[in-house]
Amino acid sequence: MKVSSFLSFSAFGISTILFKRKKPILGTIILTDKCNLKCKHCSVNNITAVVHPYEQIKKEMQQLYDMGIRILFFCGGETFLWKSGDKDIRDIVREAKEMGFLIVNVVTNGTFPIDLPEADLILLSLDGDKTHHNMVRGDTYDTIMENIKNATSDNICFYMAINQINKDVVKDVCRLARDTKNVRAVSFNFHTPYPDTRELALSKEEKAKCCEDIKEMMKEGCPVFNLKSAFPYLINNNFPTPCHQCVVMENGKLSTCGRCIEVPGLCDECGYFFVAEYTLLFRGNPKIIFEMLKTYLKYV
Ligand SMILES: C[S@@+](CC[C@H](N)C(=O)[O-])C[C@H]1O[C@@H](n2cnc3c(N)ncnc32)[C@H](O)[C@@H]1O
Ligand code: SF4
Ligand code: SF4
Repeated sequence: MKVSSFLSFSAFGISTILFKRKKPILGTIILTDKCNLKCKHCSVNNITAVVHPYEQIKKEMQQLYDMGIRILFFCGGETFLWKSGDKDIRDIVREAKEMGFLIVNVVTNGTFPIDLPEADLILLSLDGDKTHHNMVRGDTYDTIMENIKNATSDNICFYMAINQINKDVVKDVCRLARDTKNVRAVSFNFHTPYPDTRELALSKEEKAKCCEDIKEMMKEGCPVFNLKSAFPYLINNNFPTPCHQCVVMENGKLSTCGRCIEVPGLCDECGYFFVAEYTLLFRGNPKIIFEMLKTYLKYV
């Protein structure tokens, strides 16, 4: 991270904590909900299958920028399916950087060739070792590993959603993140139980076991892009929700925190680590502040 970006985020953090402000800093744009996969745990793919046009995405970027958002995520559906005229995902990432976003990340299922050096992080979903990943995501593991090997940059971070299918292979993914070329780290979420995937949710005890596994891997030197001081809150689901510093834009509609904010009661069972990490950070939790500084400076 550049020194100027670090200073700008620090100033934002201090003023949010001191004045209890609710101004957002992190925005996600949904490029499309179209997807080439149908993962078992996912409730947001192919609902409309519309690919939003370039002009609309550009307008949404500008709107977020004007609101003061400086960390931008592109998400989907599958982001690498996004095309509009002669523009593709790489063009839109470049333009976001030129517009002035300080961090631009892309979330992908990794099934398409990866040539995206301009992104700060490519969050690539990997949901276990080959057997468990393929149970969740269909027969995609080998293609993804080949794409990672041939990627043109080393800005990949595995992104694992832990659920009933893959809860016992968390350590495998940590070790793979450490040992795979072009991969910088792994970041986790617990399954957030939308009404149609409730059976995949973890119990408090199962979440605690996963957190123990992750801590053990951190001690072994595996690169984990999460904050262990947030684990107790994630296990007990007693972190504040929603996250007012995060917004999502989908097809012109702006929501606080996530699209999931519309699902009644879901925030009480939220499994997204970023929500716990950001809300605790902006409430001024000292352990979180210290760990966040250390972790972000290491991986971004
Ligand atoms: C919706 S996908 C979109 C981007 C891309 N298609 C992918 O799979 O990475 C974004 C991330 O959300 C995760 N995800 C989907 N449903 C989830 C749920 N119910 N709880 C937690 N994470 C979930 C996916 O595993 C993926 O890492
Ligand atoms: S690849 Fe991503 S958007 Fe597509 S079904 Fe899987 S989790 Fe959902
Ligand atoms: S479930 Fe609620 S708290 Fe969690 S990401 Fe969605 S909107 Fe935010």
